[in-house]
Amino acid sequence: MNAELPAALSEAIARELDGVSGRVLNERATQVSERYRRGDTSAKAIAGGEDALAYALARAPATYAACAAAFAQGHAMTPDFAPRRLLDAGAGPGGASWAALERWPSLDEIRMIDASPPFLALARRLAGAGSPVLQAAEITRRDLLSADPFPKADLVVASYALAELSADDQAQVVTALWAACEGVLVLVEPGTPQGFERIRAARASLIAAGATIAAPCPHDDACPMVEPDWCHFVQRLPRSRAHRLAKGAEAPFEDEKFAYVVAARPTVRLATRSPRVLARPRHLKPGVELKLCTAGDVEQRFVPRRDKGAHRAVRHVDWGGAMPGDG
Ligand SMILES: C[S@@+](CC[C@H](N)C(=O)[O-])C[C@H]1O[C@@H](n2cnc3c(N)ncnc32)[C@H](O)[C@@H]1O
Repeated sequence: MNAELPAALSEAIARELDGVSGRVLNERATQVSERYRRGDTSAKAIAGGEDALAYALARAPATYAACAAAFAQGHAMTPDFAPRRLLDAGAGPGGASWAALERWPSLDEIRMIDASPPFLALARRLAGAGSPVLQAAEITRRDLLSADPFPKADLVVASYALAELSADDQAQVVTALWAACEGVLVLVEPGTPQGFERIRAARASLIAAGATIAAPCPHDDACPMVEPDWCHFVQRLPRSRAHRLAKGAEAPFEDEKFAYVVAARPTVRLATRSPRVLARPRHLKPGVELKLCTAGDVEQRFVPRRDKGAHRAVRHVDWGGAMPGDG
């Protein structure tokens, strides 16, 4: 799975940076991060075009990578699903749409909706540098809370958007997004305990509304995770030079923690669900120690090296993956 922005998108972002001073961008990126960290929504954090650009440079690569990782797991569990229409709710600069198109090239109609004029303007310019499907994307200003139903789509995505809504509003939006979804709904949130709680609440309401969970959970039972633990995953992504400068960071990569759920309509065929790896496996001399979500439980499993077949099967499993042949 490629967690890196597609070349056309990173080049389009680079073109946007032409003529904008590195110092200004660094300041904007720092201010935008501070505003998000203290709990501001995008309506406050993204006051103009330079803020939107700073987000595209400093945050969009990470939210793109998280979406790409969630889509990869969703795709593995729904191998026949070939969506045509995408709805990207709370699209921001549109990274989730780009990631969806990379994963599902069958998409031929993209709708992005968002409330933020600076994000919408940037999303339009960036999409203009993409494939014909992105160039033709309908990118519309709309409040996720408006009473009108969302347009129907095969694939519905909301990435890092629920965080900006109150708990009641999240429930309303998830219900409305599910009503619009004729195939698969993917919700992605930051991999914090709070982000996970939003995903857990959404998951429960989606199951109550008839959804089957394709990923990460191998079951539709109550989530077995117990506080203070929380279900989250991590995706490593490379940082470009401009990305490092904007963030004032040295390391050539960053690890984005995220939580997600992929919910499917019963008409979508699921592959056999198998336990999900919930932490980085520990490769010890006598064997591999795994933390797994199984049918209704979180368990530690030890696969001894002397059990050659089982050990070989888990040698390459990673945090976030499914246990091979353990359905
Ligand atoms: C943190 S950004 C995430 C953007 C993008 N999905 C991503 O993953 O990078 C949250 C987005 O949700 C949008 N949003 C938040 N509340 C909204 C609302 N009530 N109606 C429409 N969009 C909203 C914001 O404008 C912003 O673009």
